[in-house]
Amino acid sequence: MANVIVVGMQWGDEAKGKVVDYIAQDADFVVRYNGGNNAGHTVVVGDEVYKFHTVPVGALHDNVTAVITDGVVLDPKVFVGEIKGLKERGITADRMKISGNAHVIMPYHRLFDQLEEERKGAKKIGTTGRGIGPCYADKMSRTGIRIADMIDPVRFRDRLRANLELKNEIITKVYGGQPIDEAEVYAEYSQYAAAIAPYVAETYSILYRASFDCANIVFEGAHATLLDIDFGTYPFVTSSHCVAGGATIGTGVAPTMIDRVIGVAKAYTTRVGAGPCPTEQTNEIGDKIRERGNEYGTTTGRPRRCGWFDAAAVRYSAQVNGATCIAVTLLDVLSTFDTVKICTGYTVDGKEIRDFPADAYILEKAEPIYEEMPGWHEDISEIKSFEDLPDNAKSYVARIAELVETPICMVGVGPRRDQSIVLDPEMLSK
Ligand code: GDP
Ligand code: IMO
Ligand code: MG
Repeated sequence: MANVIVVGMQWGDEAKGKVVDYIAQDADFVVRYNGGNNAGHTVVVGDEVYKFHTVPVGALHDNVTAVITDGVVLDPKVFVGEIKGLKERGITADRMKISGNAHVIMPYHRLFDQLEEERKGAKKIGTTGRGIGPCYADKMSRTGIRIADMIDPVRFRDRLRANLELKNEIITKVYGGQPIDEAEVYAEYSQYAAAIAPYVAETYSILYRASFDCANIVFEGAHATLLDIDFGTYPFVTSSHCVAGGATIGTGVAPTMIDRVIGVAKAYTTRVGAGPCPTEQTNEIGDKIRERGNEYGTTTGRPRRCGWFDAAAVRYSAQVNGATCIAVTLLDVLSTFDTVKICTGYTVDGKEIRDFPADAYILEKAEPIYEEMPGWHEDISEIKSFEDLPDNAKSYVARIAELVETPICMVGVGPRRDQSIVLDPEMLSK
């Protein structure tokens, strides 16, 4: 195998969890490098459904060491709960490693996330409310609390006190809220610290050595390219580096050690929260996709906004990620449409453009230009080889590859691990 990054190419929920789980069968390490418990990655094995938020999905495999690295923000309460839930289902993630440099999501981060959304009113981002943005903001302003701080009682007390001095001023004087009690937070987080301390390790060093020993590392991207803090539809984005480059920034594994980048794209488009989404269908087409695809958020349960495949957006993603191939997922959801549409470019202010404008203000005005193709009515969910798919489904996938200018390595036809059609195993992992 090799060092492979799995990255979302749209607005999240492309089935990265399922693709990572599939590749992890032959991996040694699965690494979460960005974001926090705003992610929701689903893996279905037989009748068992697992929903991961912070723990890398590789934890399901005995052969895999799951790793959480520097670029992640970790809510210790959620993490401890996730570990407990996995243990109850017979999955021990005892070998997991966590970087001491990962930042800790504190109660005031969750509070500020909610207060800020309320303050923005109609202009809100529609965050997951998990404290992600405020935690990354503290990281960048160099006031954050890291895992290494949290597991050292003296440092933690100092950092917490210094933070609460200012945060409580803002909570009470700007927002008119109740101050956060230092002793309570200290006591609660000391318990999490004790639970997390055994996992803390120099993750950079472990991955560096593993690369030299020719280990197989899968980097599990969270969120997606169009939610990236720099390359997404700012300000309607999350606060981390979701693109493939984030895997090197967030882990310390150098770009020269990366062999492949697998972009994951749904056969259509979904988005949760606010922000432009040119191909969204606020009609019976969108409703049908939502129901067939069970498009409700893994983390918040919110209905996802649904629409046609946007090839201009995914081509942009292929370029900024350097995608070596694409996994097209949830193709089965499009069965039963008489025709299916693909957006090939846009009209903005009367002018045709082919390239995706990442500027949300321009994208808001973009009218999709569609190509219409014949659909298929067959249930494809138990098909095991690409050749056996209906001709119209094959043509649809081939057209995606052409428009995105990237080969397809995998097609998803259902949520289960075994509902994955692999077109070229070498592209996935060699
Ligand atoms: P992630 O955040 O990218 O890992 O994706 P999510 O887990 O949030 O959302 C993907 C959803 O689609 C999950 O409910 C998966 O179980 C489901 N899923 C994954 N692949 C397929 C597929 O090929 N077909 C169908 N119908 N569902 C799929
Ligand atoms: P996975 O990894 C879908 C969206 C939120 C919101 C915006 C900012 O499961 O694909 P945040 O809480 O991060 O500050 O919210 O980003 N968002 C996601 N949408 N899937 C995700 O993760 C997401 N992570 C964040 O809905 O619009
Ligand atoms: Mg998800």
